[in-house]
Order: sequence, then structure tokens, then C-alpha cells
Amino acid sequence: MDTLQKTLHNFNAGPSILPKEVFQEASEAILNFNGTGLSILEIGHRTKLFEPVVAEATALMKELMNLDSDHEVLFLHGGASTQFFQVPANLLNQGQKASYTDTGVWGAKAIKEAKLYGIVEVVCSSKASNYTYLPKEFTTDPNSVYLHLTSNNTIYGTQWHDFTPFYNAGVPLVADMSSDILSRQLDFNKFDLIYAGAQKNIGAAGVNVVVVNKNILGKVNRPLPTMMDYRNHIEAGSMLNTPPVFAIYLCMLTLRWLKAYGGVKAIEEVNNRKAALLYQTIDASPLYKGTVATEDRSKMNACFAMEDAVLEKEFLQLCENEGMVGVKGHRSVGGFRVSLYNALPYESVVALTDLMKDFAQRKG
Ligand SMILES: Cc1ncc(COP(=O)(O)O)c(C=O)c1O
Repeated sequence: MDTLQKTLHNFNAGPSILPKEVFQEASEAILNFNGTGLSILEIGHRTKLFEPVVAEATALMKELMNLDSDHEVLFLHGGASTQFFQVPANLLNQGQKASYTDTGVWGAKAIKEAKLYGIVEVVCSSKASNYTYLPKEFTTDPNSVYLHLTSNNTIYGTQWHDFTPFYNAGVPLVADMSSDILSRQLDFNKFDLIYAGAQKNIGAAGVNVVVVNKNILGKVNRPLPTMMDYRNHIEAGSMLNTPPVFAIYLCMLTLRWLKAYGGVKAIEEVNNRKAALLYQTIDASPLYKGTVATEDRSKMNACFAMEDAVLEKEFLQLCENEGMVGVKGHRSVGGFRVSLYNALPYESVVALTDLMKDFAQRKG
């Protein structure tokens, strides 16, 4: 494992790189969890062995996000896509309106699901430009039950940097933060509901994290299946049924790592340096061109392309030869997508940008 991590640079968009200390400890726990002689995979969830894991993961989320006592943290099944319908099911009555921003495929999927539950008003959309920028001029109906946004658009490489239009909307905010949660300092208490698939910055696939202001719950009049109602999960401490035990354990380890790193403030500093180095390299050569509006560039997923498809292919092959994994762009955008999640070391960006500079020099 160590050898692999030394020679490979993992820019996958998700599931994606996690700290190598997490892989090490998790692999030990599969064989012998905390010296018990049992694998983490064979212990009951309602036991003295596992209960501290979910408690610590929950406490670490609260601490790292600086959450107030109104905000609850839940570890739920189903990935972020489940939240596309669980959110409106819990918040939006039939006949009521929710406002949505359409800034990428994930936001569009959230819109589609919300329409099953109530009236959806799309307040802005950059779909016509294949989501290459963030539409910032919009107004929100003050009667909207909530305003939904995607903080980072993983496929296209755009990210909201200024939340003023949202903070000024005057309605509860719901954010899909799947691909940039815990990567930068934000006042998370300004959001009434945040959800994120864990498989980028929090841990492994198989669990999603929901942060919810409990005061917004209990206002819909539809009957909710037990597993659908956030209040039941809050009451059960994320253990309403058998939770994804191993995935939550990986979250706990990753959150411990982030705390030891210095928390969100410290990781934001290195995330800024990684993104700056990559974008400077893109901008320094006419061979590369960024694919989204400069002011909206994501610090988590950097997308760029070349004019010449043959050269793109050659560069991708070079990346593969040099152990650079996951550099190919999403099929709907093409070109390249380099994901710079929390666990990606600065050195990986140095290695990639050195390769890019060398390639540009040879082809320029
Ligand atoms: C921003 C965003 N939202 C939602 C999803 C869907 O997540 P999941 O596959 O966990 O349902 C993704 C997946 O990459 C994503 O990047």
C-alpha cells in the first residue's frame, strides 16, 4: 500500500483519495479491531465497540464544522442522490414552492426529484452553456420553503465562492456539498440543511452525511416512511437500522486525520495552494485552456482541455505512464478533470504540473 501511494498520484473525482494513514488503520481494523480479535466487519452496531465510533464521527463533524446546538449530524444510507428526494419529502408540502439553482447535472437531478413533492421554481440556470459558469443574478420568492444550491459542481469544475446571493435570499438554505464539504471555512450554521456523499472529503462510499437544523423539521403534513423521516434518525443517533458500519468507521478515521491536520482552516490553506499551482500552470501555456469562467473555477475539481484531441490523448497516455490516475475529464465535458480533494498531497499537484509544463514545452 505504501509503495502504491508513493508512486501513484490519485486525482479521481470520487470515490477518491483518502489519507494513507486511514487506509492503514482501516486495514488493521478489518483484521483486528482495537485489539479485540474481531474484525470491524463482524461486530454488532449496537455494541460498546461500535457506538463510540458513530459518536466520535458525529462529534468530529460538529467540531470541524463549528456547528451550533440547533444543527444535528446524521450518517445515512443511499448516497447524496437519496437526499435529492429525502430533502423535499421532509421539507416541502404538496402545493408549496421550493427554489432551486440549476448549475450542473447533480442540481438538475435534485430538481427532478423535488418536483415529485411540490412546486419547483428554478431561479437560475447555466444549462444552455453546458454549465460553464455560475449564474449569480437571481431572485428568490420569499415564500419559498427553501433555496437549494450545489456548492461545487464536480463534473464541470465550478464552485460558489461568494454566498452573498444565498445569504440574502431570506429563505432557509439547502446545500449539496458533496464535493467540497470540509475543504474550506464557511459559516455552516447559515445553512439549514447540508448533505454530502462521503466518498470525497469525508470518507468512503456507502454513507452520506446530513447536517440539519432541527427547527425546520416536522412541518410537512404527508406521512413519511420511518426511514425517510430525519427526526427518527436524529432520535436514533444515526442507528435507526443497521448503519453502514465500515463506511462510518472510515469517516471517523478521516475526520480524526483532518482534525490532527489542523482542521478546516489548515486544509483550506493547502487546498488554496494546490488549486493556485494548477490554475497558474493551465494559464501559463496556450496549450491548455480552462473550460469554465475564471471567477467560478473550483478548487476541488479543475477542468481544462487542449485544442487538439490527438494531443489530449497523448497527454492522457503520458499521465498513465507516470502514475497519474483519474485525469480524464467527465464524458459530458471532455478534456481533463483534476480533483484536488483534502487528502491529495500538494506534492501530487507539483508532479502533475511538472509534467504539464514539460509537455507544453515540448509541444509548444
Ligand atoms: C455534487 C454531487 N452531488 C451528488 C452526487 C451523487 O452522489 P451519490 O453517488 O453519492 O449519490 C455527486 C457524485 O459525485 C456529486 O458530486
